[in-house]
Amino acid sequence: MSLLEVRGLTTGFMTGSGEITAIEDVSFSLNAGEILGIVGESGSGKSVTALSIMGLLPSPPARLISGEVIFEGQTLTNMSDRQMQTIRGPGISMIFQEPMTSLNPVFSIGEQIMETIRAHERLSPAKLRERAIEMLDKVGIPSAARRMDDYPHQMSGGQRQRVMIAMALACRPRLLIADEPTTALDVTIQAQILDLLMDLRDEFGMAIIIITHNMGVIAETADRVLVMYAGRVIEEAPVATVFDRPLHPYTRGLLECVPSLTEDRARLVAIPGTLPEPTRRPPGCRFSVRCSHAIPACSAALPPLELLEPDHSAACIRALDLAPIRTADLAP
Ligand SMILES: Nc1ncnc2c1ncn2[C@@H]1O[C@H](COP(=O)(O)OP(=O)(O)OP(=O)(O)O)[C@@H](O)[C@H]1O
Ligand SMILES: [Mg+2]
Repeated sequence: MSLLEVRGLTTGFMTGSGEITAIEDVSFSLNAGEILGIVGESGSGKSVTALSIMGLLPSPPARLISGEVIFEGQTLTNMSDRQMQTIRGPGISMIFQEPMTSLNPVFSIGEQIMETIRAHERLSPAKLRERAIEMLDKVGIPSAARRMDDYPHQMSGGQRQRVMIAMALACRPRLLIADEPTTALDVTIQAQILDLLMDLRDEFGMAIIIITHNMGVIAETADRVLVMYAGRVIEEAPVATVFDRPLHPYTRGLLECVPSLTEDRARLVAIPGTLPEPTRRPPGCRFSVRCSHAIPACSAALPPLELLEPDHSAACIRALDLAPIRTADLAP
């Protein structure tokens, strides 16, 4: 049985111009200890997917239109708020996209970590403090015991991000969702935080969903990748497969945006055009208006996500005509 099953998840928001669907028919599964990367441009639906799994979108304006989320055999999408509170923390824990909004400026970081643990476990005050210091130590905060009494503003951006991770891990979750955990940080710190997440996965055996707009981060960390575009999954496969033979033209575009470390100058070929707003999605394939390979059939119908090769799905009617040759098939 997989740890997490997401089936046909469709989430809408009520807006001034009616209900829009932020994500549509999102499906995937995740095994214990596995790292899944979710990648896509700003607005593609990555955070809405994460927050729908956590049951953290305020309703209204948000509404679960259809689909279900099953965690360790339990259907989360049927659960009451009270039941969900027992899952959040020890079951699934999340590092949010904006660290400053999730840390309370008026409490010390030690109090905030202890409060998170206290909500789920009965520990003596001494044990509670010990666990909080242990978590700060694990995430690489130097002199953890002394930093317990510091307030968020006394820490650097990188340190606050580490505190966020410590809070998310304090209840030893089986699944950690990390929404852009490194975007605000400089590259050195970024690499350190990613290494830290991988070490913690090895130590605690937790599964991780890592959300990013950067294919480089996916290459460094994830086992599998889910590519999202305009609210839908357009490609899914093991990371090595997607890097070797991306099937969707959008994925190829994203891969061309990854700065190469081996070249003198980073190749930053942005994909022309912009992601359509939910109210202005084109008919048929939502990427067709930006795709240099589009033919009239592309705008006729929404292409379904189909298994085109073993363990490799894509939603493009031209995928197999256009895909690059597999390295394994190249003549020696
Ligand atoms: N509260 C809301 N009300 C209306 N629309 C919303 C709301 N929250 C998100 N959306 C819409 O849902 C879509 C997906 O947003 P989401 O935040 O999931 O994108 P994202 O992939 O996380 O982007 P980013 O990389 O910028 O974080 C967007 O079109 C966004 O405008
Ligand atoms: Mg987001």
